[in-house]
Amino acid sequence: MDATRMAELPGELQYIQYEHKLEAQYLPAIRALISKDLSEPYSIYVYRYFLYQWGHLCYMALDPIDASLIGVIICKLEPHASHSPPTLRGYIAMLAVSSSYRGHGVATSLVKKAIHAMTQRNADEVVLETEETNIPAMRLYERLGFLRSKKLHRYYLNGNSAYRLVLLLKSIDPDSAADLSLDDVDHIPS
Ligand SMILES: CC(C)(COP(=O)(O)OP(=O)(O)OC[C@H]1O[C@@H](n2cnc3c(N)ncnc32)[C@H](O)[C@@H]1OP(=O)(O)O)[C@@H](O)C(=O)NCCC(=O)NCCS
Repeated sequence: MDATRMAELPGELQYIQYEHKLEAQYLPAIRALISKDLSEPYSIYVYRYFLYQWGHLCYMALDPIDASLIGVIICKLEPHASHSPPTLRGYIAMLAVSSSYRGHGVATSLVKKAIHAMTQRNADEVVLETEETNIPAMRLYERLGFLRSKKLHRYYLNGNSAYRLVLLLKSIDPDSAADLSLDDVDHIPS
C-alpha cells in the first residue's frame, strides 16, 4: 500500500449519478482524475460523447465533507449488431479512483452501480478493455464475475496488450457463444 493512501475513508462517501447541470462543476475534475493514469489524455469531445448520451450511466463518488470528486465511472449502452440476434451491450469506457482513496471498495461500488443501471435498462452483457498489466483493475473486474473473452495484442499506444473482459447478464444461446471471441474492436482504450 502506498504511503499516501488513506487508512480509512472520511466517512460515508456520496455516490451520485452524473447530470448535465453538473458539467461545469465536475467535468474538469473528471478529466483530471482520468487523465492522470492515462498515457494519452482524451479530448473533451470524448468525455462529452459519453456524458451527453449516457450521463445516466456515469456515477461519481464524492467526499462527504467538501463534495470533491474521489472516483468516477463512465459507460455507454448500445445495441451490438455483430451478435445474432443483436445484443444490448454495456461498455465501461473509463474508471478511476483518486490514488489516496484506493483499496476501500470505491471502484467496486462504482462498477456495481453502473452494472445495476445497465441491467435495469435490459443490457445483455457488459464489456471493457483493460491493460493486461493493470493488476488492480483485472482483480476488481474478475472478482465481480467478468471473464476474459479476448486478448488484444498491442492494443494501447504504449505497445501494451489488453484483455477484453465480459460480464454476461443473461443466459446466452450456446450457438452464439462463439461470437464472444469474434468481437470487432469498436471501443476506445480505457
Ligand atoms: C483500478 C482502480 C479503479 C481500483 O480502484 P479501488 O477503489 O482501489 O478499487 P476497490 O477498492 O474497489 O478494490 C481494490 C481492492 O480493495 C479491496 N477492498 C478494500 N476495502 C473494500 C471494501 N470495503 N469493499 C470492497 N473492496 C474493498 C478490494 O477487495 C480490492 O482488493 P483486491 O486486491 O482483492 O482486488 C484504481 O486502482 C484506479 O483508479 N487505477 C487507475 C485507473 C485505472 O487503472 N482504471 C481502470 C481502467 S480499466
